Order: sequence, then structure tokens, then C-alpha cells
Amino acid sequence: MNVSEAILTRKSVRAYLDAPVPVDLMEKIIEAARCAPNAGPFQISVVRTAGLRQKINDRTLDAMIHSGNEFLQQRAALPGYQPLYGAPVLFLLSGPADAPYGAVNTALAAGNMLLMATSLGLGSCYLVSPTLAFNGPNNLDLVQEAGIPDGYKLQCAVVAGYAADENKFTLGERKRKGSVHYVG
Ligand SMILES: Cc1cc2nc3c(=O)[nH]c(=O)nc-3n(C[C@H](O)[C@H](O)[C@H](O)COP(=O)(O)O)c2cc1C
Repeated sequence: MNVSEAILTRKSVRAYLDAPVPVDLMEKIIEAARCAPNAGPFQISVVRTAGLRQKINDRTLDAMIHSGNEFLQQRAALPGYQPLYGAPVLFLLSGPADAPYGAVNTALAAGNMLLMATSLGLGSCYLVSPTLAFNGPNNLDLVQEAGIPDGYKLQCAVVAGYAADENKFTLGERKRKGSVHYVG
């Protein structure tokens, strides 16, 4: 698949098969992140342990429920909603808490990861919801277990895996976002 096809076919996948991502594919996704435009340090924690993914999932769900944000609370209340969607691998992208471009660096890296995953035949989804669990109160155990460096803050996450047929939390039709204004 070339880049244009990956861009046009990528979508947020929110249901995964219980099948591991082969290590060579995972490494390609990580490599893609590290080739993105960048203006500062960041780290990718690759969470392959099912137990830790479950813990992060549950704490994220709890944080969504208690967020006070109506959109997040509605999502969390959907029957069967799991914020990590049962994906077999979770990438956590963190950067220095006080760095000016931490969010941009990690978002660009994550964008490359999504496109690489698509080109490899994998589903993926960009997530900010885990930041509610990691950057909220009583988070130190998660930060330590995920190996996020001292002084770093979780900026975003990516899940990837083989897409399940049923994808009930994703709209079937892909929409075009944003607006365009031509000058001249
Ligand atoms: C800043 C940002 C945060 C997002 N956070 C989440 C998230 O926490 N959970 C989720 O399922 N999707 C999340 N998404 C994915 C969007 O919901 C998704 O990209 C959007 O609905 C468009 O759908 P598409 O990716 O299939 O084109 C996030 C996207 C962005 C840009």
C-alpha cells in the first residue's frame, strides 16, 4: 500500500481480534514514529502485557466517568465501551512535562504510526483518553509500571491490532474534516 492509499483508508478502529501483532510489524510502527517531524524528545512505551493494558483501560474508563465532561461520560456509558478497545498492543507517547512542543512531537509521531499500521493491514486508533488516567491524581503506579521517565507526561496513545469485523463504536462512513479556503 502506498502513502496515498494509507491516508485515504486509515480510520479509527475500535474493535480488535484477540491476535498478537507480530514483532516485525510492531517495530515498523515504532520506526514510523521515529521518522516523523520532530522538535524535541519523546518516549514510546510499548505495553505488551495484557494485565497492564487492562489496568490502564479500567483506570481510563473510571477517569472518563468521573471527568465531569459530558462527551466523555456519554462515551463511557455506552454498553460494552472499553477505552482501549481490546487492542493487543498499546503505545504510550510521552514527553517532558515542561517542553513547549511535547504535544506536537507526539501527535506527529502518532500520525505516522497510524499510517504505518494501516499500510501493514492493521487497524489502529489515536487516543487521548488514557491521559485522564495517567495525568490525574493517584497516577504514580501507572506512570511507573509503564516506564514513563521522570518529568515526562503522557501526551497521547495509539492502539493497534487486527481489526474485528464488528466495529460498533466507529461510524461506517468516513467523513472529511476541517474546512478549506483557497486564496487566489
Ligand atoms: C486529539 C484527538 C484525541 C482523540 N482521542 C480519542 C480517544 O480518546 N478515543 C477514541 O476512540 N478516539 C479518539 N480520537 C479519534 C477521533 O475520534 C477520530 O479520529 C475521529 O472521530 C475521526 O475518525 P477517523 O479517525 O476514523 O477518521 C482522537 C482524535 C484526536 C485528534
